[in-house]
Amino acid sequence: MVEWSDSERSTIASTLDLCIFIVSYGRVLIVYPWTQRYFGAFGNLSSAAAILGNPKVSEHGRTVLNALDKAVKNLDNIKGTYSELSQLHCDKLNVDPDNFRLLADCLTIVVASAFGSALSPAVQATWQKFLSVVVAALSSRYL
Ligand code: HEM
Repeated sequence: MVEWSDSERSTIASTLDLCIFIVSYGRVLIVYPWTQRYFGAFGNLSSAAAILGNPKVSEHGRTVLNALDKAVKNLDNIKGTYSELSQLHCDKLNVDPDNFRLLADCLTIVVASAFGSALSPAVQATWQKFLSVVVAALSSRYL
C-alpha cells in the first residue's frame, strides 16, 4: 500500500490544479502520432494546428483531467477508483497501456514548462510518484 505524506498530498493537488488550466491532451496526439488511431471519431487531426483547435480533443482533455482530479481526491485508493476505467480502456477501447505512460510524460513536460525553476526535485518526485500510481491503476485490469 502506497503511503502519502501531507506535503505530498498538497503538492499533487496544487500541481494538478495548474494542469487543469494549461494542459492540452492534444500534445500526446502530436508528439506520439500513432495515438491518433484511437480517436478516429474526433474529426480533423491532420496537423498540430488542427489537433490543438479540435473541440473534441479539448473536451476529452477536460474529461481526462477530471478523472485525474478524482484520483487526487482518492489518493489512498487510486486502484479502486480506476478499476472500471481500466477495464474500459482494456476491453472496450483496446488502448495499449504503454500509452498511459506517454500521456503521463506529456503531463510532466507541460507542468515542468509552467513551473520553471519552481519544479524542485522534491516536487517532481512527488508528481512522478502520483503519475506512476495512476498509470499502474489504469493498467491494473489488463490481463
Ligand atoms: C491518465 C491517463 C488517462 C485517463 C485518466 C483517462 C480517462 C478517460 C476517461 C475518464 C474517459 C471517458 C470514459 C467514459 O466515457 O466513460 C476516457 C475515454 C477514452 N480514452 Fe482515456 N484516459 C487516459 C489515457 C488514455 C490514453 C493514453 C489513450 C490513448 C492514447 C486513451 C484513449 C481513450 C479513448 C479512445 C476514449 C474514448 C473517447 C471517446 O470516444 O469519447 N485514454 N479516458
